[in-house]
Amino acid sequence: MEQFDTKMVYITGGSSGIGLETAKLLSSLGSDIVLLARNSEKLEIAKNLTEKAKKDTRQKIRTISVDVRDHHDVYDKMQRAVDEFGAPDILINSAGINKYADHFENISHEMFNEVMNVNVNGVRNVTHALLPSMKEKKGHVVILSSAAALFGMFGYTAYATSKAALMGFAESLRYELKPLGMPVTVFFPPEVDTPMNLDEVKTLPKEGRAMKSMGGFLMPDHVAKIIVKAIAKKKYFVIPGYSTRLLYFFHRMSNGFLSRIVSDFIVKRTAQK
Ligand SMILES: NC(=O)c1ccc[n+]([C@@H]2O[C@H](COP(=O)([O-])OP(=O)(O)OC[C@H]3O[C@@H](n4cnc5c(N)ncnc54)[C@H](OP(=O)(O)O)[C@@H]3O)[C@@H](O)[C@H]2O)c1
Repeated sequence: MEQFDTKMVYITGGSSGIGLETAKLLSSLGSDIVLLARNSEKLEIAKNLTEKAKKDTRQKIRTISVDVRDHHDVYDKMQRAVDEFGAPDILINSAGINKYADHFENISHEMFNEVMNVNVNGVRNVTHALLPSMKEKKGHVVILSSAAALFGMFGYTAYATSKAALMGFAESLRYELKPLGMPVTVFFPPEVDTPMNLDEVKTLPKEGRAMKSMGGFLMPDHVAKIIVKAIAKKKYFVIPGYSTRLLYFFHRMSNGFLSRIVSDFIVKRTAQK
């Protein structure tokens, strides 16, 4: 895939999981990478791994420590990054959290806001800060939503809400950017083997765990390959994994009827165990 050679790619959440695997893959394809996340030590480790994957010694791998919730800091740091490194050809919004996967009554106002702030406002902040600089390059905006946006799930009132919001955001943004020749791609992965699940497992009710297992389980390097291929083909709406695609097909065909029948049955059976 020569088209990624010498491209400038910014990746939020690039220090871990899907973001990091995508960074390594794009690095092996010749891209310059800017990794964004909060924790500087994790960023440094991710930088070394992404460096090791480089196709050419002239490629540049940089890191920026930033909290995507803090729009002032995001604007300031993105402005400086564009001046120093250049505008992104591709912006991958992968930063996200899945804390507080729990019964809705256990999720406080603060918890709910934290999830919305990182997962929704974070994508809004970084994309808004970088968009003007990306126009000339006809840059590509990539967003990591989740299969939880397509179906909803037991214990996911905060997370699914945030990821469904990204579906509306992506679709609306797509209409605005299409006339400018700027592609948008949004991904809806099922469960992926990353550190994110260590947070979720602390609180996710057993009914949620049982429902989630229907969607399948993917490895992050496999998801990274799907992400890169979809970017190359400028696809808009991408559901990684056969099981989730099949579930979504029946969900759409039956206007949600079939998936709700099956999910209700799973919830009832699991609650009785
Ligand atoms: N793993 C899954 O099962 C799964 C399934 C579907 C969709 N997704 C989505 O895919 C994306 C990547 O998930 P992942 O599994 O790769 O997660 P992960 O391994 O936990 O990585 C999350 C990344 O986001 C960064 N981050 C978190 N909060 C941030 C903040 N406030 N500001 C800046 N960076 C922040 C983290 O670094 P710091 O903590 O250092 O900031 C880390 O680099 C997420 O949007 C997630 O919702 C994941």
